[in-house]
Amino acid sequence: MLADEVCDCHVLVIGSGGAGVRAAIEASQFGKTVLISKTIVGKGGCTTMAEGGYNAVLRELDSCGGHYEDTLKGGAYLNDPELVDILTKEAPLRMGDLVKWGAVFDFTDADEVAQRPFGGQRFPRTCYAGDRTGHEMMMTLVDRLAATDVETLQEYTVIDLLKDGDAVIGAMALDEKGRLVLLKADSTILATGGGTKVYDISTNSSSGTGDGYAMGYRAGAELIDMEMVQFHPTGAIQPYDARGRLVTEAVRGEGGVLKNVNGERFMKTYDPARMELSTRDVVARAIATEILKGRGTPNGGVYLDVTHLPREQIESRLPVMLEQFKKFGVDIRTTPMEVAPTAHHIMGGLRITSECRTTLPGLFACGEVSGSVHGANRLGGNALAETQVFGKRAGESAGKAAPRKKIVDQQQVDAQQDRLNRFLAGTINPSQVRKKLQLAMWEGAGIFRNAGDLEKTLALVKQLAPSRIRAASPRNLAECCILENMCLTASLICRAALLRTESRGAHVRTDIVQTHDAEHSPFGHTFLSRAREGIEIREGKQ
Ligand code: FUM
Repeated sequence: MLADEVCDCHVLVIGSGGAGVRAAIEASQFGKTVLISKTIVGKGGCTTMAEGGYNAVLRELDSCGGHYEDTLKGGAYLNDPELVDILTKEAPLRMGDLVKWGAVFDFTDADEVAQRPFGGQRFPRTCYAGDRTGHEMMMTLVDRLAATDVETLQEYTVIDLLKDGDAVIGAMALDEKGRLVLLKADSTILATGGGTKVYDISTNSSSGTGDGYAMGYRAGAELIDMEMVQFHPTGAIQPYDARGRLVTEAVRGEGGVLKNVNGERFMKTYDPARMELSTRDVVARAIATEILKGRGTPNGGVYLDVTHLPREQIESRLPVMLEQFKKFGVDIRTTPMEVAPTAHHIMGGLRITSECRTTLPGLFACGEVSGSVHGANRLGGNALAETQVFGKRAGESAGKAAPRKKIVDQQQVDAQQDRLNRFLAGTINPSQVRKKLQLAMWEGAGIFRNAGDLEKTLALVKQLAPSRIRAASPRNLAECCILENMCLTASLICRAALLRTESRGAHVRTDIVQTHDAEHSPFGHTFLSRAREGIEIREGKQ
């Protein structure tokens, strides 16, 4: 026996957020499908925490062309146009699937799915279920999953991909007792979500640790644009333990306004046309600048005010915000919220084709772990749509792939066992390493960056020596593997940020004097793999 348990399936889906569950539902039509999750399906991951909405063109006055152009412009023209075209054309269809499967979105009096405005979009095309849209979607997907014969393995942590030559043939995982498990698969889908937990202040659930980026990179896949980290403009700043918690863009979509400590609606300085509904990169920078210039609140944020809105509108459209702030002692109907930027989403990730194939045979990716749909800045509401559009595509492509021979060599398993033994013999407390990493990333690879800080942060991340962290018992091994993934993800972000010597979208280099705008940038994607590392130069733009 190579390891404690072996499972053999046609499609293995790693991750149980919106993209993973959608992929598993689709793949199950083609053969035995296993969905493996380090949390409980439907409870962990970021989809369930997504509040504001799902972008889809549903009205005659709107158009997929308009959604396409908004997404490319919002993404500072770094997006893959083919993937954006697919997103905008298929988002309404996948929305239809959700409604057919029982998702209860808000409806208008005219009995149409209701839509609200979100930043950077010419039309109010964000569909919603109050301010708990992701939760409604997840509950629907979990119900649908239960009607398939997908086998779910919950509280299993995948620690690396399994390879046969260049091809991915499944994964190695730890069960809840810390025993090594082998899962062989003809096709493997990474749907592990994002990784902004590498930052001190983040909206992500505890599962946003960058596992997919790290495992993909170690297996030899190519990652692109890892420097593109989205800081959501509005995260809670109080109480301390709730710092970074999402304060949905829907607050601004419903008419909420941003003010500095002097009561000024400062967005008029940064984007007078779009004001609070500018793109996230612009709004986050505006808030950060106000705070840096000393115009922040005493608690270190700015005000987000809905007190001018009808109480009924706040109560019916923003019930989660109302309850959340009540718990913090603030009634948002009468008192402005205090907010500041928080790390939210990684736009980069594994390079994929329109069929969600990565650069490795047998490996597919969908959702936040993949790159290039959102370019240098994601529009709010495009992530939930992405999970469904590319989740379905990944499930279908992986399902249709031919069975492959899967020969597991003992060396790979031995190497994992050595890694685990190293943790059992380690000396450093993982929680200390995690905290140091998060603080260093927040300080050195945040909204404003420069080469000196990025190099310092990269050196510090390397020094953290995650290989010497200690697992107190086999049950703690997963935590060590995850922390190793966080360190690798952080270093990928810093390396990519050093490669991109321009400011673009969410990536601002304060040490670069720039003469081009985003549309005429000479640069394409940054790319990182074990074989090569660099930045693409766009022909004719030099
Ligand atoms: O602000 C929000 O509700 C988040 C939405 C998103 O990231 O798409």
